[in-house]
Amino acid sequence: MPIDVKAVRSQTRGVLNVAHFNNAGSSLMSRPVADTVTGHLRREEEIGGYEAAEEAADRLENVYSSVARLIGAQPNEVALAENGSRAWAAAVYSFPFLPRMRLLIGRTEYGGNVIALRQLAQRNYLQIVVLDDDPHGQVDVEHLQAELERGNVAMVALTHVPMANGLVNPAAEIGRRCRAAGVPFVLDACQSVGQMPLDVQALGCDVLAGTGRKFLRGPRGTAFLYVRASVLERLEPAMLDGHSAVPAGTEGFEVRGDARRFESWESSAAGRLGLGRAVDYALALGLDAVQDRVAGLAEQLRRELAAVPGVAVHDRGITRCGIVTFSVAGREPGSIRSRLADHRINVSVAPGPFTDAHAVLSQTAQGPDMVVRASVHYYNTEAEIRRLVGLLR
Ligand SMILES: Cc1ncc(COP(=O)(O)O)c(C=O)c1O
Repeated sequence: MPIDVKAVRSQTRGVLNVAHFNNAGSSLMSRPVADTVTGHLRREEEIGGYEAAEEAADRLENVYSSVARLIGAQPNEVALAENGSRAWAAAVYSFPFLPRMRLLIGRTEYGGNVIALRQLAQRNYLQIVVLDDDPHGQVDVEHLQAELERGNVAMVALTHVPMANGLVNPAAEIGRRCRAAGVPFVLDACQSVGQMPLDVQALGCDVLAGTGRKFLRGPRGTAFLYVRASVLERLEPAMLDGHSAVPAGTEGFEVRGDARRFESWESSAAGRLGLGRAVDYALALGLDAVQDRVAGLAEQLRRELAAVPGVAVHDRGITRCGIVTFSVAGREPGSIRSRLADHRINVSVAPGPFTDAHAVLSQTAQGPDMVVRASVHYYNTEAEIRRLVGLLR
C-alpha cells in the first residue's frame, strides 16, 4: 500500500509550521509518538517515575520486540541506548582485539566512529585500513575482498547510508563477503533505518546500530543496538553495572546473556516508549512503501535542483536514498540554509560527499567541502519541493 500522504501529514503537527527537509538530522515526530512521550512523562509527574515504569512494564518490554521486528532480529539480540554512537560503541569497544590486527572501514564512515576506531587502534596496536570507493562512490567491494583475503582482519566497520552522500552502500554484498571470510561485520544504520527495509539476516551483519530521531521519527536521545546471538557471548561489555551484570561469588560477576548487557540501568522510559511507537508506526506504514516514497521524492528534488542555473547536485552511488546534497555557485551553504529558514524551510549543512562525514579521512578534492543537505521524508510533498526549488531559483 502506498503511503497515504494526507493521513500521515494530518498526524504530523510540524508540517503546519515548516517544510522539513532535515530528516537526516532529526525528523518531525508523528503525533502518536509525541503523545506517547508526553503521556508517559505526565504519568511520571502524576504517580512517580518508578511507578509509571511499572505501569508501562509490558509496553516497555514490547519496544524490544518492535525493534527486533523492524530489523529481522530476535528480541534478545536488541539493546536500547541513548544515541546511535553509544549503541555502536557499546558493541565495538567490547570486541577482543589482538595486536596488529586490521580494521577495515570505508571512506564515508561516520566521523565519530572513525575517532573511536582510532582510539581502539592506538590502545590495541591495530591498523586501520580505509577501503577505496568504487567509481560510483560506494565502498569498493573488490578492494574489500582483497583485504579480507590478506587476512588478519579484526572487523569490517561500515556506514550503510553516509550522512551526506545520497547513496546506499551495498551492505548485503559486503555482509556476504565478511561471512565467507569469517570476519565480524559492524554496520552503522543510523541514516538508513526508518527510510528503507532492513533485515539483519539479509545484510549479514553481526552488529547493527540505529538511532531513533532521524528517519525513524522517534524522539531525540533514543537508539538501539543489534548484536547477533552467536556473537553476543564473545563480547564482554567495556563497561558494566547492576543491570548488565550480577555479582557472582565474593569477587566475581556474571554478565547477562542477552544484548541488554550493553545497556545501563537508568534510561528515559518516555523516550523508549516513544521509540517503540515510532517503530510500530513505521512498520504499520510498511518500510517498502516508505522507501518508494522517500526515494521518489528525493529523485524529484535532484531533478528539479539540477535544472536550476548555478546549482550542482553532488549525490553519488547506484542506489540512492532520501539524502540530497547540493551547492549553489557563489553562495555559502550556511547562507542558503538561513535564507530558506526565513521561509520556514529546514535544510542542513554537511560535509560534501567527496569529504568523509567529518572530514576525518582525507579525500580527493573533487567537490565542495561543505554542501546543503536536503533530506526528504514520506510526509514531504511535491509542492514543498517545488517551493524549495523555486526559492533557490
Ligand atoms: C551515519 C551516522 N552514524 C552515526 C550517527 C550518530 O548517531 P547519534 O547522533 O544518534 O549518536 C550519525 C548522526 O548523524 C550518522 O549520520
